[in-house]
Amino acid sequence: MPSSESAPPLKDVLDASERLPAFPDVVWKVMPLVRDMAPVQEIEAVIKYDPVITAKVLSFSQSAHYARRQAITSLRDAIVLMGQQQLVQIIMAACASRFFQSESASGYDLREGELWEHAVAVALMTEIVGRRLGYEDVFSAYTAALLHDIGKTVLHLYVKTYFDSILSLVREKKMRFLDAERQVLGIDHQQLGTMIACRWKFPAEVTTAIEYHHYPLQAKENRTLVSIIHVADRMVSAMGIGCGVDSLMQPNQDQVFVELGITSRMVDQCLADLVEALRETKQFLAS
Ligand SMILES: [Fe+2]
Ligand SMILES: [Fe+2]
Repeated sequence: MPSSESAPPLKDVLDASERLPAFPDVVWKVMPLVRDMAPVQEIEAVIKYDPVITAKVLSFSQSAHYARRQAITSLRDAIVLMGQQQLVQIIMAACASRFFQSESASGYDLREGELWEHAVAVALMTEIVGRRLGYEDVFSAYTAALLHDIGKTVLHLYVKTYFDSILSLVREKKMRFLDAERQVLGIDHQQLGTMIACRWKFPAEVTTAIEYHHYPLQAKENRTLVSIIHVADRMVSAMGIGCGVDSLMQPNQDQVFVELGITSRMVDQCLADLVEALRETKQFLAS
């Protein structure tokens, strides 16, 4: 790595992101089946070849959340028990967690595992907010929320190296962390995350939500989803879950809450719902 005085060539950052493995193929095979409510045997036939997903589905079905209903002994039973939405969430989380597992994101002043905890909490909060607002595209919302900071898993190494330069722009020029990150590194984690999600062939609503999650008012399309991800991100950060150094100088964008019709009372209720949801989904957090 070069010294903190000279910026890294953008090519280095892009090459590092290119080295990320492909998103697990199983998602594209299983999601249409789940969404179309295909026979359970067809879903099982795809899932059973992925040991990580199989383990997550089985362990979640055996958790306290379901324990009193019936004993689960097979993957097929677990799939039947879980229902469409829960299955989507577990499969997505099992696939996405692979990219966060070994990342400490220390460049963003996050401890090991905290970026994944943040991703899961934002995904759960997105679900909570989306339900209250009647937002129906659960799959895209959950996916975008889980991956909204995926750019950080690559960029954190560079943020760490050039931290002093970034922080001095934040302090002296009163820049937002994201803008300082972009000025010093040539790219910010929204842009890099968008490139990664495009390479993984996620749909446009997911990539747009990643691209504008800090600046939803700039989004020309999919504004509702982008705004939901933004408010979920802000509420989770306000609870101190994955609230790293880039939360410095966050602009007051309450207009986004107003546009969505989210009142401060609703915020309180969402925060309480999240505490409950986090208690029920501890398995997601164990990588
Ligand atoms: Fe972010
Ligand atoms: Fe975030």
